[in-house]
Amino acid sequence: MGFNIAIDGPAGAGKSTIAKRAAKELSFIYVDTGAMYRTITLGLMRRGVDIEDVQALERSLADIEVTIDYRDGAQQVYLNGENVSGLIRTEEVSARTSACAAKPQVRAKLTDLQRELAGRQNVLMDGRDIGTAILPDAQLKIYLTASVQTRAQRRYKELVERGESCSLEEIAKDIEERDYRDMHRETAPLMQAEDAVLVDSSDMTIEEVTARIVELARERLQA
Ligand code: DC
Repeated sequence: MGFNIAIDGPAGAGKSTIAKRAAKELSFIYVDTGAMYRTITLGLMRRGVDIEDVQALERSLADIEVTIDYRDGAQQVYLNGENVSGLIRTEEVSARTSACAAKPQVRAKLTDLQRELAGRQNVLMDGRDIGTAILPDAQLKIYLTASVQTRAQRRYKELVERGESCSLEEIAKDIEERDYRDMHRETAPLMQAEDAVLVDSSDMTIEEVTARIVELARERLQA
């Protein structure tokens, strides 16, 4: 079995940026599980599936295949063989993924793939339920969070830099709603595993958080 690092936490805490950097420093494979949920969501959107219709959902899921590989060290996701790594980053896919990811049938489809990836090699996997449900025996678990205000400000800055108009209050409200949905769903809700190290990035730079995770990983690798 590989050495497994699980990083969970709410949207906007800086998980993917930090996870990517820490994985690189440690020479671990970075697995972005959010991208897999986004890919299934895109597949369901393209088929026009009403996800509340269980039969239609299950029928469509049987036809959706998610695979990943790496190009220049960056994870690529494929929907039935098509590279959709760019297409899954739209606002529409982001907004719909939370509801799709709450469906147990959707989660069940990705569990084996995620465990299989972690079994083969040293991985740093980020998501919402990695330390609690997918890799309960991970050697290091991090729960990375930040205040709603901080996360909203970061997102606001990103959108302004992209030239998009937005309101800080709206963004904060969206973040709160998404947190609520992710934390209160029945299947694998977002929560801190008992043995996870809590890292609050509100007053930390990306470099500081990355260094903290790398330090924790090196301590455990040596133990
Ligand atoms: O991390 P992200 O923003 O790419 O995640 C997209 C959505 O997928 C988000 O609503 C939470 C959900 N998700 C999940 O339920 N479980 C995971 N392991 C990863 C993401």
